[in-house]
Amino acid sequence: MKTAGGTTEAKRRAGKRAAHEVEDGFVVGLGTGSTAAYAIDAIGRAIDDGLEVQGIPTSFQSRRRALEAGIPLTTLDAVDGVDLAIDGADQIADDPDSNGYGALIKGGGAAHTREKLVDSAADRFVVVADPSKLESVLERAIPVEVIPDAHTVVAERLRDLGGEPTLRDAERKDGPVVTDNGNLVVDCAFGPIEEPETLATRLSRLPGVVEHGLFVGLADATYVGTADGVDVRE
Ligand code: 5RP
Repeated sequence: MKTAGGTTEAKRRAGKRAAHEVEDGFVVGLGTGSTAAYAIDAIGRAIDDGLEVQGIPTSFQSRRRALEAGIPLTTLDAVDGVDLAIDGADQIADDPDSNGYGALIKGGGAAHTREKLVDSAADRFVVVADPSKLESVLERAIPVEVIPDAHTVVAERLRDLGGEPTLRDAERKDGPVVTDNGNLVVDCAFGPIEEPETLATRLSRLPGVVEHGLFVGLADATYVGTADGVDVRE
């Protein structure tokens, strides 16, 4: 059985190992979530040992973590390029024989818009995860960031596409989740997603959608922490 401690250790291993890819002079995209946080911490320790890098955070959360770790920060518009991005995932399509092999669902932390921007700008995008994230076919609800005025209209369009949309944390006392960009998140369940690329294109076309959490064809490698090491898939 997977224990919470085991998962934490797997995340730590994956994040720490991925940080080994960072080289002197790199501009690094800093992902969001508990696994990416281990990579941020490891990059911070390498900086203490003399490594010179600049980081581009993908969220308020990763910005704060990076500042705590002592990573000098920059922005996408201030650099010529991003050498490497290290980011987590909520689900990873793991069947090499399926259409969507390597596709991801991200946005559990409502940061997928900036994550997709930074991860896709990188020369190399490395995903860090524990084994619980691997599925033969993606099936989690897809986070869809929408401008606030659009959430009911987008929900209708998502139903037209066969999804079951839910405004994230709609019932919360202090209101639904608001992203770093001031928008809302609609989580939309589609059941098993056999053709992620097709669905990704359809979601991107909906007016009012800022970005969705289906990442297709973006990851270059996946580092999965295991009980005693890290499984690296290129
Ligand atoms: C945030 C994300 C995260 O990368 C994802 O939720 C994974 O988080 P964790 O490493 O804590 O399991 O997409 O928007």
